[in-house]
Amino acid sequence: MKKVFASSRLPGDALSRLAEHCELDTWESDSPVPPAVLRDRLQACEGLLCLLTNRIDADLVAACTRLRFVSSMSVGVDHVDLDALTRRGIPLGNTPGVLVDTTADLTLALMLAAARRIPEADRFVREGRWDPAAPWHPNMFVGRDLAGATLGIVGLGAIGQAVARRAAGFGMHLLGWNRSPREVRGVQVLAFNELLAESDFLSVNVALTPDTRNLLGRDAIARMKPGAVLVNTARGGIVDEQALAEALVAGRLFAAGVDVFGREPVEPDNPLLGLSNVVLAPHIGSASQRTRERMAALAVDNLVAALNGDPMPQCVNPEVYGSL
Ligand code: DGY
Repeated sequence: MKKVFASSRLPGDALSRLAEHCELDTWESDSPVPPAVLRDRLQACEGLLCLLTNRIDADLVAACTRLRFVSSMSVGVDHVDLDALTRRGIPLGNTPGVLVDTTADLTLALMLAAARRIPEADRFVREGRWDPAAPWHPNMFVGRDLAGATLGIVGLGAIGQAVARRAAGFGMHLLGWNRSPREVRGVQVLAFNELLAESDFLSVNVALTPDTRNLLGRDAIARMKPGAVLVNTARGGIVDEQALAEALVAGRLFAAGVDVFGREPVEPDNPLLGLSNVVLAPHIGSASQRTRERMAALAVDNLVAALNGDPMPQCVNPEVYGSL
């Protein structure tokens, strides 16, 4: 029987289903498996089920000579050296589609929370700063409306389109930009710099690739419409956190909602941590019970297919199957 290493326990019955098809070795701790241990445990394995917290780099791929297939419980695969896998003919599975609505929901949640200053207001109430002498004031916690504002969507893939559908329900005007030309109903597609200049809210919904790394760098942030709100639920490496923090401190941008960071967990000196006009979350875009179970199930479907000698239903590098 083939052997698979699962770098985490998974929600639902996904792993018990996988165990019916292979000899399964599971990392039981909630902390990521240390790289040296991962390398060691993979020596005996044909398959790997990993998370985005496991770095699957070229050295690891070279060192694991038995490895034949990899499935990541994530849609993003920037933690994996895809070329190294493809060169060895190793298929990489991922979990697109099933997390679209959940991630789009969080994007809107962060937009609303940042625009209406909800975490700031929550702290104000809890900390007893709500002054009986001034219980309501026209200037208290004023924020920004979504209705009538323009939303620029950076990346018009499935999640970007789901964000657009939700934002349309809030009465927003929709602009978009995509790396390859794409038409989306109700979304006016603009050149990148135009999108930056026109958007009251900017939502980052592209995958992290060499092309999108630092896409929202210092120059792009400087081009954003004054007073705009930036929300990132994609990947940290796409936005320059230092430049974003400076723009927020200077009042050039009104607020930001950030679910993903260049380094996760954020380091204590991350410049965004001290800013009251930033809403932060610890990479929870897909974190609903149902979606996590569906991601786990799809990650296992990919492995079961590979164990049976079939192509993975969701494969990032289908070219490894040649003319199958
Ligand atoms: C992914 O799957 O890539 C997400 O970032 C996890 O929510």
